[in-house]
Amino acid sequence: MSVAMMSEEQREAEFQRRIDSGEVIEPKDWMPERYRKQLIRMMSQHAHSEIVGMLPEGNWITRAPSLARKAILLAKVQDEAGHGLYIYSATETLGIDRAEMINQLHTGKAKYSSIFNYPTLSWADMGAIGWLVDGAAIVNQTALAKCSYGPYSRAMLRICKEENFHNKQGYQLLAYLMRGTKEQQEMAQDAMNRFWWPALMMFGPSDTNSPNSDELMRWKVKLYSNDHLRQRFIDRTVPQAEAIGLRIPDPDLKWNEQTRHYEFGKINWDEFYAVVAGNGPCNHERMSARRKADEEGRWVREAAREYARKKSMVTAA
Ligand code: 3HC
Repeated sequence: MSVAMMSEEQREAEFQRRIDSGEVIEPKDWMPERYRKQLIRMMSQHAHSEIVGMLPEGNWITRAPSLARKAILLAKVQDEAGHGLYIYSATETLGIDRAEMINQLHTGKAKYSSIFNYPTLSWADMGAIGWLVDGAAIVNQTALAKCSYGPYSRAMLRICKEENFHNKQGYQLLAYLMRGTKEQQEMAQDAMNRFWWPALMMFGPSDTNSPNSDELMRWKVKLYSNDHLRQRFIDRTVPQAEAIGLRIPDPDLKWNEQTRHYEFGKINWDEFYAVVAGNGPCNHERMSARRKADEEGRWVREAAREYARKKSMVTAA
């Protein structure tokens, strides 16, 4: 029976059957309005995170310690812009336009990842962001590469390849500093101390406080829970820290031979919710930078629209 002939109930049941059998949902397929809305929320916020995420690192491009390091950082920041545009395009397949998404970001209706509301105080922070933040993103995005919505999962496949470069260059930067002078080692450890816990918060609230997870997991948008991916990130990252002599700033961290996982200390959820609510160290600075960039780019958008309009008139004539 075609979807058009089905009742709402039958459509929902058929949609869930497709999801349960591992089928990929494409833009033209029937989908529950709630599925579409959830995807727009999650994907647009992901795209916002990529674009806002350029700001903390952009702060160090002119202060990179060598030409090679400047070129690497430039390439990484450029990649993040591409990731944002890629995910905005994937989100537009759900019927929302770019201007509306950007407006939601600028008016505070939409969120972006809390991690980008922390300042980048030293060159070592470029290593901590590449290794920890992009490392967390890899754990999260390799799962999303298998999610049920086709345009999102395909975008993740391309993005994860570039994240691996981001992650490795960050880790290599910190490894280099840890083999350096005492001051360089202290700079690297200070960056670790400031970025470790905010990186754990990137995975979202604990499962018991995650209002969206049940629905997203039923629809295989999220394949794993927030806590599961957070634990996966910790288990893979602690040995990397130890390998270069960085200490994890968590006195409760310890390996559990039975569970084969690291146990870790309490996350400061008050800090998490304060940053998510807009009261982090750099929220206002990030939003004003985004609004300023949008304003300065207005003439480019208008010129491109005018050019496209004129061109369509010429071809129509
Ligand atoms: N920062 C800001 N808001 C957060 C957050 C965080 N770290 N974690 C959760 N939230 C928000 C959620 O958006 C939700 O609010 P909303 O309903 O108003 O959108 C609320 O807190 C409750 O959280 P839930 O767990 O119920 O929300 P989700 O089920 O959506 O899970 C998520 C949150 C794990 C971030 C999920 O949305 C996700 O996996 N998103 C896609 C990946 C993503 O956005 N990553 C951001 C980093 S991108 C990055 O690092 C790029 C790299 O190249 C640098």
